[in-house]
Amino acid sequence: MTKQPAWKKLEAHSSKARKFSLRSLFADDPERGQRMTTEAVGIYFDYSKNLITTETLSLLLKLAEESGLRARIDAMFRGEKINTTEKRSVLHVALRAPKGQSIVVDGKDVVAEVHAVLDKMADFSTRVRNGEWKGHSGKRIRNVINIGIGGSDLGPVMAYEALRHYSQRDLTFRFVSNVDGTDFFEATRDLDAEETLFIVSSKTFTTLETMTNAHTARDWTLAALKDPAAVAKHFVAVSTNAGEVARFGIDTANMFEFWDWVGGRYSMDSAIGLSTMIAIGPGHFRAMLDGLHQMDEHFRAAPFDRNVPVLMGLLGLWYNNFFHAETVAVLPYEQYLKRFPAYLQQLTMESNGKHVTLEGKKVSCQTGPVYWGEPGTNGQHSFYQLIHQGTKLIPCDFIAFTRPIHPLGRHHELLLANVFAQAEALAFGKTSREVQAENTPSWLVPHRTFEGNRPSNIILMEQLTPEALGKLVALYEHIVFTQGAVWQIDSFDQWGVELGKVLAGRIIPELEEHAEPPLSHDSSTNALIRRCRKSGRP
Ligand code: F6P
Repeated sequence: MTKQPAWKKLEAHSSKARKFSLRSLFADDPERGQRMTTEAVGIYFDYSKNLITTETLSLLLKLAEESGLRARIDAMFRGEKINTTEKRSVLHVALRAPKGQSIVVDGKDVVAEVHAVLDKMADFSTRVRNGEWKGHSGKRIRNVINIGIGGSDLGPVMAYEALRHYSQRDLTFRFVSNVDGTDFFEATRDLDAEETLFIVSSKTFTTLETMTNAHTARDWTLAALKDPAAVAKHFVAVSTNAGEVARFGIDTANMFEFWDWVGGRYSMDSAIGLSTMIAIGPGHFRAMLDGLHQMDEHFRAAPFDRNVPVLMGLLGLWYNNFFHAETVAVLPYEQYLKRFPAYLQQLTMESNGKHVTLEGKKVSCQTGPVYWGEPGTNGQHSFYQLIHQGTKLIPCDFIAFTRPIHPLGRHHELLLANVFAQAEALAFGKTSREVQAENTPSWLVPHRTFEGNRPSNIILMEQLTPEALGKLVALYEHIVFTQGAVWQIDSFDQWGVELGKVLAGRIIPELEEHAEPPLSHDSSTNALIRRCRKSGRP
C-alpha cells in the first residue's frame, strides 16, 4: 500500500499539511464550514475542522481508488469470501437486507433465512413482553439476563442502553459477560429465579467465560426451581452451533440461529440482538435494521467524495498514517450512548488491529488506532485537558443530536453549546496574544494558551431513535471496512485472541489441581501461579 502513487503523494503532502493552520484555512475560505460537509441518510457530517485542503481530500480519495475499495465493497455485498483467513463471506449487511432481496451464499439465499429467524425472534419477544411466555412455576418472566462476551455482549449492552427510552420498563435487563464470579453474583443477587430468563449468546457456544456463566446460571436456576425440566422455560440460546446448544441441555427449538458469515463484533443486529428485541419490541428492532440498511445502501452506492463512512475512514487514516496519531476519541453528546465507545472498541480494534496483510506479509504502515471515549459533557471534566493542551494529537469524533429525548429546561441547549464549543476550541485554540489581551500576567500566558489545530469530525443527527442507532452502527462498521481495505488487511478475523486462550487453558489445572503439577512457564508466571494455587489458599 505504501508504494501506491497516492500514498507517496500523501507523504509529500503531509509535510506541508503539518503546517496547516485551521484559523487560516477558515479565514481564507469563508465557505469552508458549509463546503466541507455532506448530508446523507439523516446524518449531517461536518469535516471542515480537519487538517485538510481540497488537495488532501482528492489524494485520499485517489488512495481509496488505488487500493481497490470499490471492488472490495462490491465483493462484500456479493457475498464473496473476503474473510480469507477463515474462508468466510462477510455479510452483516444481509442481516438488514429487506425481505425479498436475495444474497446467495453456497447456493442458499441468506436473506430468506435471516427473515425466518427475525420472525421467530419477534414471536418469542412478543410472548415474553406480553407475559404469555411463563417461567416453570407459572410466574411471568420479569428479568432477562443475556450471558455472552465480546460481540455477544457489547452489542446487546450498548443497544439496550442506547434504546432504553424505547424499552418495556416493567422488564429488567442485565448482562453477564466476565468470568469473574462477581459479574454473575451482582446480576442475580436480587432476582427471583422463577421470574428470570437467561439468553445464552455465543456464536461458537464454546467460549470459556460464557459457558462457565451459563453453567452457573443453570445451577442457580435449578437450586431454586429444583426440577431439570425448568431449563426449557428459563434458558434460550443464540448460536451458530446447534450441537453444543443441545449438549448444554437447551432444546434447539429454543435456539435462535445465526451464521458463520456474521462476525461476532458485527452481530448486534442478528439473533444476538434478542435481548434488544425483547426490550424495545419487534417494531423498533425492525426500525433499527432499516437504519442499518439505509447506511449500507449509502456506503454501497454513494460516490466516495460524498460517502460518509468512506470520508471518515480516510480522514482517520490520514491522522493514523501521516500524523502518527495513535488514538481516536469518540465523544457522544447523548447520555444513552454511554456504552457506544466500549462497543466501538471491539468493532474497530478487533477488526483492524492486524500486523500482516491479506497475503501474510508484514504491513508497511500503522494499522488500526486505539478507540476510546466517554459521553460529553463528562469527558470535558476529566481527559479533555490532554486533548486541548497535551502533546499528543487526538482526532475526535463528536456525535450530537438536534432534538433531546427528554426536553428538560435548558439542558439540551447547554449540551449542544458544549459540543460545538469543544470542537471550536480544539480547532482554533486561543493565541498567546489573545490571552495577553485579557491582562493575564505574563508568567501565566503560556499555561493559558491553546495551540488549536486539533482536528475533529461532527456527526449531527436529529434524535436518537432505533433507526438513528442503526445508522451510527453501520457507519462505524463501514469506516472499519474502508480502512481495512486501504491497509489490505483482513478486518474480519481475530487470531490475536487465541494465544491467551490456549495459555489460560494450560494454567487452569495448574491452579486447581491439588496434586500441584510441575510448572514449566517462565519464572514470573511460575511464581504467580504458586502464590495463587487453590491448595495453598486458606
Ligand atoms: O475471543 C474473541 C471472540 O471470539 C470475539 O470475536 C467474539 O465476539 C467473542 O470472542 C465471543 O465469542 P462467542 O460469541 O463465540 O462466544
